[in-house]
Amino acid sequence: MHHLALFVVLIVLAAGPAPAQQADIRIAVPSELVDSGLMQYILPRFSLKTAIRVEAGKDGALQIVTEPPGTPVFSRGGTNYYLRAAQGDKAARFRDWLTGPIGRRTVEAFVPAEGGQGFTMAPPEKPETDAPDFVGDAARGHALAREHCGRCHVVDEANRMRGIGSTPSFAVLRALPGWVVRFESFYARNPHGAYTVIEGVTPSFDITSPPPIARLELTLDDLDDIMAYAATVPPADLGAPIQYQ
Ligand code: HEC
Repeated sequence: MHHLALFVVLIVLAAGPAPAQQADIRIAVPSELVDSGLMQYILPRFSLKTAIRVEAGKDGALQIVTEPPGTPVFSRGGTNYYLRAAQGDKAARFRDWLTGPIGRRTVEAFVPAEGGQGFTMAPPEKPETDAPDFVGDAARGHALAREHCGRCHVVDEANRMRGIGSTPSFAVLRALPGWVVRFESFYARNPHGAYTVIEGVTPSFDITSPPPIARLELTLDDLDDIMAYAATVPPADLGAPIQYQ
């Protein structure tokens, strides 16, 4: 009996440490979507926006399938994918996000790591407007952007002289294709990763190793506000097509 109990414990340990935080919802997807890297690309972006953790696997309250019924979401190489959402607020939020302008742009921005074909979106259900809705408070976002981003970026006329010369201004960032996705995920993009903490999203720092420079600490709500402000910034006229990775 003793041996059996020990054996069971070992199996549990071998399965690896439990995830630090449990997923709020699960989504069942065909394995090629996981293999392509698409799920790993889009799910953290949804979670950042909503603080809802989604895990892709073999079963779940949400499903992406290759046969109707369902809401057409995207296709690749002649295969169409449909989303079937179960009851529930969180599942509905995911459906709205994936079929809305931000989710669509996120899927389109995805480039498979092994080269290969990306995903194209199903035609929108509703006509797409150019300006996605920003839920944040733009005035508060303006103040936050000045305080936190204005250390390096020129945010507006008032802090024109305070930014760091080689750092793109907010007006230049606004003119980049996919600026929404870039802002949404700025904390994971160079050079911010080394000093940025987004509460509940990025791992917190090892307090024994001091960061190279002053930390930038924000919540998801703060980031929503900054994005609402950025949406009001007139994009710089960069003339020729933008050469910016
Ligand atoms: C310590 C300096 C610093 C701070 C603070 C900073 N940034 Fe940046 N950021 C940069 C630099 C430098 C680049 C250009 C990186 C490059 O050219 O690859 C950049 C690029 C960006 C980009 C484009 C990234 C991409 O890959 O497209 C976005 C979006 C951005 N910053 C948003 C922000 C926001 C929002 C804040 C404030 C919450 C902020 N940054 C704070 C230095 C900073």
